[in-house]
Amino acid sequence: MIIAIDGPAASGKGTLARRIARHYGYIHLDTGALYRAVAARVLWDGGDPNDKQAALYAAKRIDPDLLDDPGLRSDDVGQAASIVAAMPEVRAALLEYQRTLAATPPGAVLDGRDIGTVVCPDADVKFYVTADIAVRAERRYLELAAKGDATDSSEVLEDLKVRDARDSGRTDAPLTRAEDAHLLDTTNLDIEAAFKAAIAIIDGR
Ligand code: CDP
Repeated sequence: MIIAIDGPAASGKGTLARRIARHYGYIHLDTGALYRAVAARVLWDGGDPNDKQAALYAAKRIDPDLLDDPGLRSDDVGQAASIVAAMPEVRAALLEYQRTLAATPPGAVLDGRDIGTVVCPDADVKFYVTADIAVRAERRYLELAAKGDATDSSEVLEDLKVRDARDSGRTDAPLTRAEDAHLLDTTNLDIEAAFKAAIAIIDGR
């Protein structure tokens, strides 16, 4: 069983994916963490995320232990992640890792930008999770503030706009809703309501 969850930044897809995975006893892969890990490796080694060689080098040597590092969640790493994520070679280097995990029995929940379109086009259930940009910016601001990251909310909003545009506008695996993905707009839904709506669809299959 493969459940694919895609959507723009801070739409609530990660939280939803974790809850669904826990509910069914499936593994969860936050594929954004892979791109964040590549970007962080480059940044933390003093490199430039626009440097394709450095990004590809990092993508070929993903350290699974790094995926849970709280340092990956910063805004700077998120921006750099969307830069390395636009490089086809980097995406290709990460594909097998994602597909292998997706095939883990009895099931897997993957969240990202291109799960339903590229990584697992044959996923059993697909969701496209979104919300108004102002609501997403507020959520991301609260998330960063709770961790003590000094940011201001207008900067978070601007960063999300830049990242959404880069993710949707790239040529390789752009952020887009798969034709057969169920749309979940979480603008007015809390996590519990979004979770209930999602499991009703999954159980209905
Ligand atoms: O948590 P948030 O929604 O802000 O972002 P994320 O899921 O951690 O992803 C960080 C960046 O990785 C995104 O802005 C995308 O550029 C990239 N990404 C991607 O290209 N494809 C994926 N399947 C997942 C993430």
